Parts: sequence; structure tokens; C-alpha cells
Amino acid sequence: MIIKTWLVKHISQFKLLLHLAAAAPLCWLAWQTYTEQLGGDPVQYLTHFTGKGGLNLLLITLCVSPLAKAMKWGFLLQTRRLLGLWCLAYALIHVGIFWWLDLIGRVDLLLSEVIKRPYISLGALALMILIALGITSFNHLRRRMGRHWQRLHNWVYLVAILVPVHYYWSVRSGLTEPSIYILLALLLLLLRYRKLLHWPLTKGIG
Ligand code: HEM
Repeated sequence: MIIKTWLVKHISQFKLLLHLAAAAPLCWLAWQTYTEQLGGDPVQYLTHFTGKGGLNLLLITLCVSPLAKAMKWGFLLQTRRLLGLWCLAYALIHVGIFWWLDLIGRVDLLLSEVIKRPYISLGALALMILIALGITSFNHLRRRMGRHWQRLHNWVYLVAILVPVHYYWSVRSGLTEPSIYILLALLLLLLRYRKLLHWPLTKGIG
């Protein structure tokens, strides 16, 4: 109860804390890069770090609604946009690093990777959806789009499957961790099974 009262009163500070928590790993990564602590394959380290960050933020974003519902903490819903935008930021940095450092910034190589490798195709589809959600996440567009906004934002559930599968497919050994991510994503979707029966025409996102 005390926590709830504090959070309701200080929602802006809470949001600031979430911004800082989301930005901190990137600052740490920048420091590790600057001090050359990225290990034997720095590009792979950077790609994995940012990819995992994006996936974690995606799942955290999807935890908000069930948590808000279970605790009757409706105000928590206000944090979804910022968490979702941070997920997009990590995903963009992840792809940017792969494109710039692995594929030396060549668009043709990126396109051929997207076409040739199924796990990259899934990642690209997820990124396209995340970009669309990010662009339309602001209030004036939300109002202008009306019910189409909700329909579009229900595509986040597809992203919740695409990204863990993208991860699973990208690894050659050590399938335990990606399998756990797939299970977590399925669990979060299971919590919404009633809504998902009508997907993508589900009313409201939860
Ligand atoms: C055009 C879009 C994308 C491309 C080109 C891409 C590329 C890659 C590459 C090259 C890897 C590493 C594979 C390896 O180790 O050999 C990877 C892994 C990964 N990506 Fe992506 N990705 C894309 C989209 C995304 C998105 C949108 C997310 C999350 C929101 C994401 C999350 C991950 C994760 C979690 C991993 C596994 C990291 C690990 O092994 O620790 N990717 N991706």
C-alpha cells in the first residue's frame, strides 16, 4: 500500500527511474567499449548485448498489464510506452551494430542477409513492427488513429514470438536460454489468451 501511494504520487520520478535503469546498460556498454573490455569478438559481444537488452525490455513491457491488473495498479500502464520505446532503441542499436560493423554499412548486404537467413528475416519483421508501434505511440497519433491504433498495437504479440524465435534460431549451441525466453513469451501470451482468440482484432491491448 505504501509503495502504491508513493508510486501514484511520484509517477514522474518513477518514470525517470525507469529511463535511468534502461539507459544504464547502454552506458556500461559504452564504457566497456571505450576501455576495450568486449572480449575476443567485440562485434558479436555488442550484437548479443543489445539484442538481449531489446528482448528483455520487450518482455518487461508485456509484464506491465498483467501486473497492473493483478495488483489493481492502473497507473503502471503509463510506463508501457517508455519501456516499449526503450525496447525499440535497443533493437535499432542492435541492428545498427550488425549493419555498420559486421556488414560494413552496406545496405545490399543487409538486404541479402534478410532474404537469405530465416532468423534474420524474423528479426527484420519484428523490427518493422516495433518501428510502426514506436512511431504511432504518441498521444496525438493515438487519438487520430482511433480503433486502428489498438489493432496496430496488437501486433506486439507477434513480436513477442518473433524475437525469441529469432534468438533461438540464431544460436548454434546452448539452446537452454533461448528456450526459456520462448517459454516466458508464451506464458505472457497465455495470460492474454482470451484477447488473443480475436487477434489481431482484439479490443484494447493488455
Ligand atoms: C533486421 C533486424 C535484425 C537483424 C539483422 C538482427 C541480427 C542479429 C544477429 C546477426 C544476431 C547474432 C547471431 C549470431 O550470434 O551469430 C542476432 C541475435 C539476436 N537478436 Fe537480432 N537482429 C534483428 C532484429 C532483432 C530484434 C528486433 C530484436 C529484439 C527486439 C533482436 C534480438 C536478438 C537477440 C535476443 C539475439 C540473441 C543474442 C544472444 O545470442 O545473446 N534482434 N540478431
